[in-house]
Amino acid sequence: MKPLLKWVGGKSQLLTAITERIPKEFGRYHEPFLGGGALYFHLESAGASIADFNPRLIDFYKHLRDFPDELFTEIANVKSQFDLSTFEEQAAKFYELRNEFNNDRQPSMRSAALFLFLNKAGFNGLFRENREGNFNVPFGQKKSLSIPELPQFIETANLLQTAEITSGSYESVFERANEGDFVYFDPPYVPLEGSPSFTSYLSSGFGPEQQKQLAQMFCDLAKRGVFVMASNSYTKTVRELYSDFNVQIVNARRNINSIGSKRGAVEEALITSY
Ligand SMILES: C[S@@+](CC[C@H](N)C(=O)[O-])C[C@H]1O[C@@H](n2cnc3c(N)ncnc32)[C@H](O)[C@@H]1O
Repeated sequence: MKPLLKWVGGKSQLLTAITERIPKEFGRYHEPFLGGGALYFHLESAGASIADFNPRLIDFYKHLRDFPDELFTEIANVKSQFDLSTFEEQAAKFYELRNEFNNDRQPSMRSAALFLFLNKAGFNGLFRENREGNFNVPFGQKKSLSIPELPQFIETANLLQTAEITSGSYESVFERANEGDFVYFDPPYVPLEGSPSFTSYLSSGFGPEQQKQLAQMFCDLAKRGVFVMASNSYTKTVRELYSDFNVQIVNARRNINSIGSKRGAVEEALITSY
């Protein structure tokens, strides 16, 4: 199935390259940097463990899991009002709902619907927060919100009902993954050499020390007999961090750079322990 969310660094472009390289057979599937979950929803692996550091993303998935019909009704109402408005009204509505989302951080149906709204109406499906932890992505200037139909909400919820969903850092996968399981790591990437860095998915960021610790965990899981795969940028740092493993180049199309000439095909690394 297709993911409901549009997510920066989403793996839809790489699904063929990734699926060609997943183990033929494995126990449980784990994806601890879930984001939009392109691979998870593609594999539709029942009983998986999925996690992300972003609590608002995880609250969204939990509401989707438990109340797909209600969430659909809530977002459909927002969509019908939004689509019928003039452009000026839409921009004003976007900033009004963004404020509401930032002012009420308690998990609720409303904030799950607002999360989805901001993902669809914000610039490029980006999720970015300022130092105060306020979501600060600008209006994406879309005239109509592209919201999937109810059956996709239900189908996604049915899969999520079989999953263990956790909010928090990726390290907890270490307690969960057993021999024969398959772990896919899709962290914020090591920035390309010479490019303005784009690592800060959340106000906390994911720097060189975290990349090193992640590579160490990759190695420790591999020693345990877990099949491990990771995506990252095809950079010297990544080649060095994973020099004991299989590092292959795959081509992706990326769209996160605001400079038009820098959009297009990018070489990425796909690393496997097997
Ligand atoms: C490259 S995106 C994953 C994209 C995803 N594979 C997809 O298809 O949409 C990286 C994700 O890692 C999350 N993240 C950042 N630091 C993390 C950490 N320490 N532990 C777990 N997740 C983290 C971010 O919130 C973001 O959703």
